Amino acid sequence: MRKPRKKLALLAVALIATAGTLTACTSNGSDAESTDGGGGDTIKIGLLLPESKTTRYESFDRPLFEEKLKSLGDYEIIYANADQDAAKQQQQAESALTEGIKVLVLDPVDGAAAASIAESASAQDVPVVSYDRLIKSDKVTYYISFDNEQVGVLQGTALVDRLTKDGTTTGLIMINGSPTDANAAEFKKGAHSVIDPSGIPILAEYDTPDWSPDKAQEWAAGQITQFGDEMSGIYAANDGTAGGAIAAVKAAGTEPIPPVTGQDAELAAIQRIVAGDQYMTVYKAIKLEAERAAEVAHQLAQGDTPEPDTTFQDIPSTLLTPVMVTVDNIQETVIDDGFYTVDDICTAEYADACAKAGLQ
Ligand code: BGC
Repeated sequence: MRKPRKKLALLAVALIATAGTLTACTSNGSDAESTDGGGGDTIKIGLLLPESKTTRYESFDRPLFEEKLKSLGDYEIIYANADQDAAKQQQQAESALTEGIKVLVLDPVDGAAAASIAESASAQDVPVVSYDRLIKSDKVTYYISFDNEQVGVLQGTALVDRLTKDGTTTGLIMINGSPTDANAAEFKKGAHSVIDPSGIPILAEYDTPDWSPDKAQEWAAGQITQFGDEMSGIYAANDGTAGGAIAAVKAAGTEPIPPVTGQDAELAAIQRIVAGDQYMTVYKAIKLEAERAAEVAHQLAQGDTPEPDTTFQDIPSTLLTPVMVTVDNIQETVIDDGFYTVDDICTAEYADACAKAGLQ
């Protein structure tokens, strides 16, 4: 675990604000944005992220990557977010390649479809860093992510242990991630590895298109109608889908809210955990992931070969360790790590719940 860095969250917010003022359309009319170093020897690096409904990308991944990369040299970052649209991401990649990027850091909407992006980049001698989600291509130069199967194991273990302890093992539903995201398959595999042998019935299971919280909510509402009280737990693959599921439970007036899992340690999820609406989330230290990606991009741009920490499916890789978060270890995880301050979490609405949880 890293040393506490209490200023990180504020810094991230400040950086987003700065990045917002630097937005510029590229000459070919695409919506790629560039944060410009401006100098003559500036090297262009592409950063393509998949969506913006999950808060991590714009609040952490992007600013942390940009900040680190700019500390390493004179770089211009060609940035675009695909809003979970694979075709749009394809165009953004083409546009970034046309702009002359030297390295492409790509978090794909669709891991299989993104193979053609990796092909085009490779044909132009542009190394491709597969960021967080795996691109299904042998043209990937380096892969940086977390141990994603372990994310699912943490979620499944937390849920099974909690239901067993509460004696509420009548059945759970599973809200998985997007079927086009290779990570979603890993989360699901890890969760099943714990839930299946537990004997707790899986009443129904759903792969959420686009990781959409709205679709998760709609599907969960239907399951609540169908299964009623038999549904004693909800596996949700991330905090966005967890938020959708919890909204559905609240709309149905079911009390108490069954234990719901999540992932990303989004601020809203941490607040729901403090308030008792969500049981757990998984904290992934995005700062380490984004900064490693910046280092790797820098090395590749300089013509160096990054030293891998491990390999994943034969690709030189860095795989970071996810951490389980419940109300009992918010302080030791996201706060001590500088991801949030107590003030970020404990706004007026959550003051009482925070005091009860010992957060102050
Ligand atoms: C990421 C998660 C994220 C999800 C939805 C996954 O690939 O690993 O952190 O919640 O995509 O964007």
